[in-house]
Amino acid sequence: EENARKRKMSIIIEQYKNKVSTLYTNDDHHLCKYEGFWYFQLFYHHSKADFSVESIMALQDDFQAQPTDVFLTSHPKTGTTWLKALSFAILNRNKFKLDLGSRPHHPLLTISPHDCVPFMETEAFLNNPSYANGLMATHIPYTSLPKSIISSNCRIVYVCRNPKDVLISYWHFDNKLKDDDSIPTKLDDVFELFRRGMNPFGSFWDHVIGYYKASLEHPDKVLFLKYEDLKKDPESEVKKLAKFIGNPFTEEEEYDGLVQEIIKLCGFENLSEANKGEEKTSKVLSDDIYFRKGVVGDSVNYLTTEMIRILDKITKEKCDGLDFSF
Ligand code: A3P
Repeated sequence: EENARKRKMSIIIEQYKNKVSTLYTNDDHHLCKYEGFWYFQLFYHHSKADFSVESIMALQDDFQAQPTDVFLTSHPKTGTTWLKALSFAILNRNKFKLDLGSRPHHPLLTISPHDCVPFMETEAFLNNPSYANGLMATHIPYTSLPKSIISSNCRIVYVCRNPKDVLISYWHFDNKLKDDDSIPTKLDDVFELFRRGMNPFGSFWDHVIGYYKASLEHPDKVLFLKYEDLKKDPESEVKKLAKFIGNPFTEEEEYDGLVQEIIKLCGFENLSEANKGEEKTSKVLSDDIYFRKGVVGDSVNYLTTEMIRILDKITKEKCDGLDFSF
């Protein structure tokens, strides 16, 4: 299987070689700009093909959305894992009972949310058949989504988060991805790139605004959620999410406390505990890397006053004229 995967990747590199060669690149960071956003090049990341610009191009050419599909969309580090877990638990609540006790375990207690809900960018572009269950995730910006996602009747859920917390989360994540013997990235450097939008799927602000505008234009198609709201009032956000993805809670389910059970199952404490341990191997990355602190406002512990000032200024400028704040 590994060989087949490698072969398909080589074909994709070859197929998009010319197109990629025309892109504006930043070779220091192996990033290239495509349709206004920054991506990795598969060419540079043979072993980590996921989320490369080639995968996006292949999806744009080949991906066919079904009207019943649900796409969970986000900029990296905004709560993707949490949204995956919640949506999976909601949609499968009759198939997998929710009790956290000893009965046959819920999949979320034994496998990563990232294996329950795959990213299009890691599997679909390789035509992986395991991948057709109608619920999937993507970091692709709204304006670059495969056309069939926009034109079909499928649903899109977006989760966004305060840019300061996203930056700090990304910084930690990026360093955890490194080999033990490589030099950790300095916050100063990540900050400089992030503020200029130069991170995979950045600019962060453009990513958010693209989906935000789409949610205003097509409220039945795009649901816009915030990490902070999910923290503050999980019950109403989870009900909203269930309704939007076509699986609202019945009065009886609400009475039985199902909403709270889903919130508990997918809560940071529970999932970070479930994803510990060496026997677990995610297809994507080791599972616990997605769980750090899960706290709103943690970035104040790392960012300087000047960094905060700059990020807030960008937010203010970018969101000018929009009825939107983080
Ligand atoms: P922190 O680094 O601030 O802790 P993504 O899933 O998009 O990669 O985002 C990762 C961020 O979401 C991390 O934030 C992680 O700790 C947090 N997170 C992961 N699972 C969560 C959950 N079940 N509830 C709340 N936050 C969660």
